[in-house]
Parts: sequence; C-alpha cells; structure tokens
Amino acid sequence: MILISGGTGLIGGHLLLLLAKEKEPVRAIYRSKDKLVNVEALFAAHGNSNFDKIEWVKADLLDVPSLEKAFQGVTKVYHCAGLISFDPKAYKKLRKVNIDGTANLVNICIAYKIQKLAYISSIAVFGDNATHKEIDENSYWNPEAENDVYAIAKYGAEMEVWRATQEGVPVVIVNPGIVLGEGFEDSPSSAIFKHVGQGISYYPPGSSGFVDVKDVGRAIHILMESSIYNERYILVGELLKYKTLLTLIAEELGSNTPTRKLRKWQLQMLWRLDAIRSIVFRQNRLLSRNSAESLWSSSQYSSKKIIKQLDFEFTDISSTIKRVCKTINLK
Ligand SMILES: NC(=O)c1ccc[n+]([C@@H]2O[C@H](COP(=O)([O-])OP(=O)(O)OC[C@H]3O[C@@H](n4cnc5c(N)ncnc54)[C@H](OP(=O)(O)O)[C@@H]3O)[C@@H](O)[C@H]2O)c1
Repeated sequence: MILISGGTGLIGGHLLLLLAKEKEPVRAIYRSKDKLVNVEALFAAHGNSNFDKIEWVKADLLDVPSLEKAFQGVTKVYHCAGLISFDPKAYKKLRKVNIDGTANLVNICIAYKIQKLAYISSIAVFGDNATHKEIDENSYWNPEAENDVYAIAKYGAEMEVWRATQEGVPVVIVNPGIVLGEGFEDSPSSAIFKHVGQGISYYPPGSSGFVDVKDVGRAIHILMESSIYNERYILVGELLKYKTLLTLIAEELGSNTPTRKLRKWQLQMLWRLDAIRSIVFRQNRLLSRNSAESLWSSSQYSSKKIIKQLDFEFTDISSTIKRVCKTINLK
C-alpha cells in the first residue's frame, strides 16, 4: 500500500494521477472533503478513470493518532503535504506544519519500518546562496544568511527527513524549483497565471528555476521505484527571467505583456508599504523583505545530477505554460 500526504494539493494531486494507474493500492490523506473536488476534476480532465481507486483517509500532520491510522498496511510513503507562505507572520505556523508535521510523519515511518519515504523538499533549502555560481545538491545551508521564513521551515523539514535515514528508513528527496501546473488555481505557485491573465505592466528584474508539476511527479515516482536511497535531487527544468515567464503566460492568455521593469528601490518601497498595510488592516503580508529581494536576485540551480544519473528529461517550460493556460478560466 502506498500512502500520499498532500494529495489534495498541486504536486500531490498530479502524483495521484500517476500512482492511481499502478497495480499497488493507493491511500491519500485529506483534511476536508471539499478539497477532493479539485482532484476529481483533475482526473476527469485527464480522462483518468482511476479516481475511485484511491482510498481517502481523513488525517492531519499535526494529529498523530489520525496520521497513525492512515499508516495501517503502508509500505511506501510520498510526503507532499506542506505549507507555502513567505509571510513573516506565518513563521510559527510554517514551523508547526512543515517541521513538526514532518517530524510526526517521520516518527511513524520509523515505527512502522516503512520501506521507503519520498519527500518533496524545495530549492528554498539552499537558502540565501546568491554568491554561489551554481547551486547543486552539495550546496550548503548558511544559517547566518538572512533566510526567509519558508526556507527555514523547509530546511527544518528536510532535516527531519534526513533523521529518518539515521533510524533505518531509506529516503529519496527532490528539491523542485517553482512548480507550474494545472488544476489547482489557488495553490500558491499557480496563482500567478490568474494574476497575469488579469493584466500586469511591471516585471521584477530577477530570475528563478521553474519545473513542470508532471516532471516532479515522474521524478519522485522513478526515484521511489529505483534502488537509489538517501539522495536528493534538484528539479529545475529551466532557469528563466521573471520577465520571460510573465511574457510567455501573458501571450498565451492574450493579456498585456509586462514592459516596465521594477527597480530595486521600488521593490524596497513596496515591501515596506506592504508591511504597514498588513499592520494597519491586520491582513497577511503579500510581499516580505526576503520575497522582494528574491525578485531581483538570480540564483543558478543545476539539475545535472538527475539528468546524468537517470537520463531524466525535463519538459520545456513554454509547453508547460501553453498546457496550463488552456485550463485557466479568467472569468
Ligand atoms: N508549489 C511549488 O512551487 C513548490 C516548489 C517546491 C516545493 N514545494 C513543496 O511541495 C509541497 C506541496 O506543494 P504544493 O504546491 O502541492 O502545495 P499546495 O497545493 O498548497 O498543497 C499543499 C498540500 O498540503 C496539505 N496540507 C497542508 N497542511 C497540512 C496538514 N497540517 N496536514 C495534512 N495536510 C496538510 C494540503 O491539504 P489541504 O488541501 O487540506 O489544505 C494540500 O494537500 C510543499 O511541501 C511545498 O513546500 C512546492
């Protein structure tokens, strides 16, 4: 029996599409029934009739007894659940879900002698590494850098997963860049499609690493079924300037392409204004200082390890964008 956490999210939902086709039975964790609609719609959109083969179990990473129930008869675990936020006010919650929640899951994996645990980490765990020419799997976390709250929580979660290896649970970890995919428009990394579709004029000067959600599912599945263990792999299909990404999306959605570059001082002013807005109106931060800095930085991530070891081929991002844009409803 395979268990997936985060099956109602962007990455877990697409992974379910793959796994539900397999012979091995699949169980997935959910927290609220209304989130299953997106997954069911994703299966329908792909003409995949295996949605009913998934056994859904109600559980929360922070509720150990419910999580333990989901582990009955399980041999392989894909841990895709997590919280994505760059809001400094979400720091406690980020630590709770990502670090404590992963620690809970790891403890049960150890107790149940799980055959293999696959974990969706992030390129965020390489932290503020802007001075490195090229970031690869051996790049280190610099605790003295000004790392953002999401990076700290994901780094802590990855450490929990490495702890599992010390307790005899074989592990594979992937570190995806920003994941692009269809079907979960409210997912943090998918929201960009709707924003661009509504029309934007400005673009940030930096760049980042992007990857197709289907490549993330395919890679973690191959790694789970391989004899590889206790290794991590960066998953970045392409390094793109934000301007290129936003223009490709805008062209596909028929909205105006961004032509005005956001200056560093404008981004610095924006994050400060956003901090004031969030205090005055008691709302979540939309742009933290670290997020603003990441919008003008251009870290270089290398996926050479997975390409060399597994002959892995990434989807080019322009075809990902074309596919995702066909599913975006701007009304
Ligand atoms: N999206 C990206 O660009 C990206 C890039 C690199 C790494 N990642 C990592 O990949 C993972 C999944 O990301 P995603 O894009 O699929 O995010 P997502 O669409 O927001 O999905 C998050 C999933 O985690 C579940 N979850 C959150 N808190 C939980 C809890 N306390 N107990 C059980 N389940 C919980 C959510 O359940 P509900 O539906 O009930 O909320 C949902 O299924 C995260 O760990 C993220 O850090 C994402």
